[in-house]
Amino acid sequence: MDLIKVVLSPLVQGLQYRHKHSQSIHVVNHHIKFMLEFLFESAIIKERGIAALANIEEQAIRLDYIKIRTVAIAINPTDLHHTSGAGVVGSILGCDISGVVEEVGIQCKSDAEKGDYVYGNSLEDGAFAEFALVRDGHTAKMPENLSFEEATTLGVGVTTIGQSLYMTMKLPLPAELPLKDRSFLLVCGGGSATGTLAIQYAKLSGMTVVTTASPENLELVKSRGADIVFDYHDPRCSHLIKEYTKGTLH
Ligand SMILES: NC(=O)c1ccc[n+]([C@@H]2O[C@H](COP(=O)([O-])OP(=O)(O)OC[C@H]3O[C@@H](n4cnc5c(N)ncnc54)[C@H](OP(=O)(O)O)[C@@H]3O)[C@@H](O)[C@H]2O)c1
Repeated sequence: MDLIKVVLSPLVQGLQYRHKHSQSIHVVNHHIKFMLEFLFESAIIKERGIAALANIEEQAIRLDYIKIRTVAIAINPTDLHHTSGAGVVGSILGCDISGVVEEVGIQCKSDAEKGDYVYGNSLEDGAFAEFALVRDGHTAKMPENLSFEEATTLGVGVTTIGQSLYMTMKLPLPAELPLKDRSFLLVCGGGSATGTLAIQYAKLSGMTVVTTASPENLELVKSRGADIVFDYHDPRCSHLIKEYTKGTLH
């Protein structure tokens, strides 16, 4: 069995940071240790709050799904939520994945082909398995400048951006003509993993990006394209943002 590479994404490190005084840190650390020590065919939610290795039957391809031979997975905070409550007991754990397309369901509309290098979000069927099923439209081809380890950290984060900026706010997609009026968009927490993605997408859609971060992340968020950064520790932060955006945020 090939070794599936496990990437401890900054998202999990962030979770550890925030929950260092709670029991969650123990659960996350245990989970990571567990994942790193074993080669596995799949990791499932064995019972509520407990993940375990398991040999499972390979899932048959479904009409509008893509089967991926997993190369790298990233551990995301949401894996913990699935183990402890949101996921179905017995199901495969994990969501962030990169790998090689093995099979494409006959009703898939995307241009994925066998052998393509892809990354994506396998929230429905789980990612921590040698082969994973991902719904059509939830994968993207890997840019040539990214490794499997880098690409695997993007799946859920990019999905979150898609839901917020494009499904809810209906901004023009990066490939479309950007907005010309350069309206303001506030990214709260620009220094977070999701925030750094949001800044880049919002800029591609033509927004003027206002963000909040600690001073030590000033250069980071600027390098991602933020137009102006406010320190959220400053009690005048919200007032300064309203002033800068002339009350146009809503
Ligand atoms: N990770 C995912 O795939 C995912 C998916 C869906 C939704 N989300 C949501 O996206 C948000 C960020 O998650 P993440 O995983 O990307 O976080 P993360 O990478 O762990 O980000 C941690 C950073 O958040 C910043 N932060 C904390 N409190 C803040 C505040 N009050 N105002 C502004 N910034 C603050 C801090 O930045 P500084 O160091 O600059 O202080 C901290 O370094 C969360 O609400 C999460 O639930 C995440």
